[in-house]
Amino acid sequence: MKYLLTLLAGLLAGALLTATALGAIAARERYPRSVMVVMQANLTALQRGLRERDCGLPESRHHFGQLVALGAEIPRAFAARERDSVEFRRARELFEAALDAADTAPPADCAALNRAITAVGQSCEACHARFR
Ligand code: HEC
Repeated sequence: MKYLLTLLAGLLAGALLTATALGAIAARERYPRSVMVVMQANLTALQRGLRERDCGLPESRHHFGQLVALGAEIPRAFAARERDSVEFRRARELFEAALDAADTAPPADCAALNRAITAVGQSCEACHARFR
């Protein structure tokens, strides 16, 4: 009986540890994807804004700022790719450069905003084409 209880306790502990480990792995995979999902929300908001009368210009600084902050998370969120791939780092730097341009010289009119959004969107796609 004592052995049976010990065995059951061991099995229970094992199951709990497995669940914890699986949960940790799932959470680790969720993080990079979550960064991307929020970036997508900001890019979509910018693109949707272009169809409005003011082309979303008043809100655009907020969304570019969000993209800059989220972009700064990429090296942490995709640590293995950052470490192992020069091309990944290069794609990330090009993305940052596109955002930097929009951030340091904020688009003043709809045409400039359209160009900036297109450039950022293309730099997302450039990385996805190779790494997603
Ligand atoms: C430097 C590379 C890189 C850049 C730049 C980048 N992404 Fe990604 N993105 C990835 C990778 C890698 C994945 C796949 C992640 C995975 O499945 O674990 C991904 C996945 C995604 C996903 C799918 C998330 C999901 O639900 O699984 C979306 C949406 C996305 N990116 C949007 C964007 C947007 C929008 C931008 C630009 C504003 C962007 N990404 C810029 C590398 C990048």
